[in-house]
Amino acid sequence: MKRFLYIFCAGVVALCACSRGPEGSDPRVEKLLRKMTLEEKVGQTVLFTSDWSVTGPSMREGYIDDIRQGRCGNIFNAYTAEYTRKLQEIAVNETRLGIPLLFGYDVIHGFRTIFPINLGMACTWDPEALERSAQVAAHEAAAAGLHWTYSPMCDICVEPRWGRVSEGAGEDPFLGSVVAAALTRGYQGEDLADERTLLACIKHYAAYGAPQAGRDYNTVDMSERWLREFYLPPYKAAVDAGALSVMASFNELDGVPATANKHLMQEILRDEWGFKGFVVTDYTGINEMVCHGFAADEKDAGRLAMNAGIDMDMQSASFFNYMVDLVRSGAVKESTLDEAVRRVLNVKAALGLFDDPFKYCSPEREAAETLTEANKQEARLTAARSCVLLKNEGVLPLRKGARTAVIGALADSKDDLLGSWRGAGEVQSVPASILEAIREVTPAVYAEGCKEMGDDRSGFGSALAAARGAEQIVMVLGEDCQWTGEAACRSDIHIPGVQSELLEKIAALGKPLVVVLLNGRPLDLSAESVTAGALLEAWYPGTMGGYAVADLLFGDVNPSGKLCITFPRNLGQVPIYHYAKNTGRPYVHPEAKYESRYLDVPNEPLYAFGHGLSYTTFSYSDITLSADSFSADGSIEATVTLTNTGQREGEETVQLYIRDLVGSVTRPVKQLKGFRKVNLGPGESTEVSFSIDKETLSFYRADMSFGPESGDFKLFIGGSSDKVKEASFSYEE
Ligand code: BGC
Repeated sequence: MKRFLYIFCAGVVALCACSRGPEGSDPRVEKLLRKMTLEEKVGQTVLFTSDWSVTGPSMREGYIDDIRQGRCGNIFNAYTAEYTRKLQEIAVNETRLGIPLLFGYDVIHGFRTIFPINLGMACTWDPEALERSAQVAAHEAAAAGLHWTYSPMCDICVEPRWGRVSEGAGEDPFLGSVVAAALTRGYQGEDLADERTLLACIKHYAAYGAPQAGRDYNTVDMSERWLREFYLPPYKAAVDAGALSVMASFNELDGVPATANKHLMQEILRDEWGFKGFVVTDYTGINEMVCHGFAADEKDAGRLAMNAGIDMDMQSASFFNYMVDLVRSGAVKESTLDEAVRRVLNVKAALGLFDDPFKYCSPEREAAETLTEANKQEARLTAARSCVLLKNEGVLPLRKGARTAVIGALADSKDDLLGSWRGAGEVQSVPASILEAIREVTPAVYAEGCKEMGDDRSGFGSALAAARGAEQIVMVLGEDCQWTGEAACRSDIHIPGVQSELLEKIAALGKPLVVVLLNGRPLDLSAESVTAGALLEAWYPGTMGGYAVADLLFGDVNPSGKLCITFPRNLGQVPIYHYAKNTGRPYVHPEAKYESRYLDVPNEPLYAFGHGLSYTTFSYSDITLSADSFSADGSIEATVTLTNTGQREGEETVQLYIRDLVGSVTRPVKQLKGFRKVNLGPGESTEVSFSIDKETLSFYRADMSFGPESGDFKLFIGGSSDKVKEASFSYEE
């Protein structure tokens, strides 16, 4: 039967020259569509999870029979070359048309070799590194039979309470777009049919990162302007980079769940952006429209979803149970279903599955390409570059050979290094915890002190004793990794439990003390930023994270990460982000009452977007502009001289921000418009230039057209959004 399929495909190819489908559709797909029964068509719009791992509230028994009957054309949460081959054989050899299955999985920050969580990855501000990480993930996952990853997660977020802030690229649409495009390129490579690539899935479309009160799955509402300006750019960037699938988000937007939102799925995604792939729901998103109060029952929900432009139902079984009826009754046109099937099958064709349905499952490649030394080395370097040195009062780098106390439950945890959504990453593959990695460099005494959570202080005594006997102290504090990610929101963003209390006691000893943070969201570090001599934000740094942290602590690697999200002084400042407007009453007079301010906390965050220290220092010259004005067909260059003023080699991320002083709608005080990473030896200088043209100045104007407006602008360049040089120019349409 397998052979038959190849012959069949070859036959179709021969026929295709004369069979004309809709524009761009693979002729083999058109041929299939003509042969398929209604049930077979619906089968291609159905996606069920295997029983290998379950990533949502429900699991359907009997998915293997569904595959055999041609009623389920896509599977997620099944992997390994052996298992995917077994399921693929059923689809190819035992169903009437032998249409191959599509295998999906959440390969979010690595498959077997786990990279830092995505929030950390974005702090590298390094598209090449991001692309390489996605490439490594694709090589490993595709060898295990997978075709499709549910990444990149493109949800801009200014909400630290939301557990899923850890999965995105932070708060900025420009940086978020660079990250989304880099990951897409990394997964999909040059050619989707290459068996070492994965189909990317843009999620969660749209604005899932803006839930009210920071509670997962909660209502989202905002103006169309803010949606387009602030939230949509990363999704669009991934579409432009060629991603061929999109996942609808769970949330409603303007009262309509994304899963049935024609404005999002049809008007913006397909009509405006020209997206040619297929749209899948997020898990039981279709059925959830009943709870949203948008659909009367699950059948109605299926109708609404398909008619709004959803092509594939993940797990809710609404299409599976009701779509045949819905088409027969005329509630869904058969042509609408055909279009969904066509989109899914065309992606299968693009993946090369009609040429060889087994090309991805390869035990040989799986053995040869998984957790290789090269992959682990890449993960180690990237992990070190994702860490952000928030504060350093001369404590770091630590002295090798000095007696060191290591304190905190997280110091000795390999599991937490992997973070949430760790794909098929296993704790056994983590070679060293932070403690173990430190011990390879220097003699270290360990005391747990306390757990991440709870109020047990019984370990405080031994932690203090360990600290007293040491010359330098490393405390590893933060959140249990299961306190971040999906359905892991918090109403309090302090370091949990009694960890900070222990820190205060240890700090009182007055010894060199560094706090390493493992966490998946901006935390309120107001107290810790005072008590600790140094603060290193390490997120959840992945398989090689223990070594990466030790590399930084002892100065083998110089920190270079920069925050992709603002750290507030307290939760009351949230949402706080650099892309803010000036307001009609900006706070400028220290004693003023009627200005936009708090009485009990400054307006400024604790650590600004773009902040991140190094073991060297950099100085910025004033900005030189090639001209002080330009017009529509021109541009200007803004240049600074960057100098490494410290004692060692280091990498700086030079950031460009713009402010449009007067607009037909108000503009943010600082809008990130570019950045460059520059490596300089001690004493070295270089010029860094940015070109500014009308694209740089474009935005959604009062009439919602996208373009620039004449007027005066400010331009800022610096190493952090709050430490910049300034210049002015004007633009004439
Ligand atoms: C999550 C998605 C994920 C999907 C499949 C959902 O619960 O929201 O991000 O891709 O499960 O595992």
